[in-house]
Amino acid sequence: MNIIDIIVKKRDGGKLSREEINYFIRGCVDGSIPDYQSAALLMAVFLRGMDEEETFFLTHAMAQSGDVLDLSNIPGIKIDKHSTGGVGDKTTPVVVSIAAAAGVPVAKMSGRGLGFTGGTVDKLQSIPGFQVVLDEDRFMDQVRTVGAAVIAQSGNLTPADKKLYALRDVTGTVENLSLISSSIMSKKLAAGSDGIVLDVKCGDGAFMKTPEDAVKLAETMISIGRSAGKKMSAVISDMDQPLGRAVGNSVEIREAIEVLQGAGPDDVRELCLELASEMIRLGEKAEDHQSAMAAAREMLDSGRALEKFGEMIRAQGGDSRVIRDVSLLRKGECRTEIRAGEKGFITAIRGQEIGEAARLAGAGRLRKEDDIDKTAGVILHAKVGDHVEKGQLLAEVFGSSVEKTELAAEKCRMAFVTGSRPPAGHPLIYRVLR
Ligand code: URA
Repeated sequence: MNIIDIIVKKRDGGKLSREEINYFIRGCVDGSIPDYQSAALLMAVFLRGMDEEETFFLTHAMAQSGDVLDLSNIPGIKIDKHSTGGVGDKTTPVVVSIAAAAGVPVAKMSGRGLGFTGGTVDKLQSIPGFQVVLDEDRFMDQVRTVGAAVIAQSGNLTPADKKLYALRDVTGTVENLSLISSSIMSKKLAAGSDGIVLDVKCGDGAFMKTPEDAVKLAETMISIGRSAGKKMSAVISDMDQPLGRAVGNSVEIREAIEVLQGAGPDDVRELCLELASEMIRLGEKAEDHQSAMAAAREMLDSGRALEKFGEMIRAQGGDSRVIRDVSLLRKGECRTEIRAGEKGFITAIRGQEIGEAARLAGAGRLRKEDDIDKTAGVILHAKVGDHVEKGQLLAEVFGSSVEKTELAAEKCRMAFVTGSRPPAGHPLIYRVLR
């Protein structure tokens, strides 16, 4: 077998065999296939596509390219959750706490933020003392005793994805259904859970701009998961404006805790309940959607999910007093306001611009090695559909330097679109694929 034949076969629209895909992934990781040939094959896949079987073989080979977690020593049906990425997405701490409180073990590995989207790991690290690097034994032990752990992805999980993602990023080959699905699902398969609930975002602040494309991505990932023997479910949710009101790190954890306390924005609560109820259903702690939803509400309303979050924080070395006193989560001391330039209805809040604004304030990074300011972020005071008067407060930007908050405020201002008529409403949750 040789890589040139494989590239030519895909370039001409052929179907790659399992052996050819395994050969490519092995060579890509051990360095025997140089980057220029891997990049050529990625472009051929981008242009010609892969069918369902090829996509599964690719995902499987990527998942097996490094460590694969074995969670079989943890009793129960372990359920993972993944979001395809959005702005203001602070669902993980809430959803994991609800599911774990309902008896579903959650062993979750999360990513760091890059570009305009934030990462759960960075957000959790805004809790004083919270450790996101645990060795495997401690991670498993915590899932066994507390019921949940959320840590940073370990060093040697899916090295093939690290390599291919870096190449896709610089060769214009990111936005391909098979390549996105295999990248996400390889990490989920290697993380070893028995089931996965996907939150597939669609809209301005997401990879997939329309519900139809988001459904296609969800169906591809569900098919991969089921072929690997996993229980799968996907929620298609709106990302045409940021989720909730807070975008950043400590400000998002504050908002997540407010939701766990029974308050917080309705959209965050609704989406968290939907995702958590799917986890409860897949984890067989409820028979159907209705009873799973009732269980999720009960965990939230009784405060048991909040207590579970406190337990998880303590187990990971963090200061669990934050669950009662969110002021322990620091907000940047410099603050710049954004006020409405005219009266009217807010017809759009572009998620990507708000994400960029939070990054400019210091909350995000452009390169993997950049430091971030956990106290920086944006708080929205108006959401799509609200009527505002001229001069009304639309948003605040927090950070540790006035230069940064002012720069971020400029960007933030550009995110708000005002019109004279109320916008056509659209749902927060488009569909649930069960
Ligand atoms: N997230 C991933 O992990 N991979 C992709 O390709 C896109 C989003």
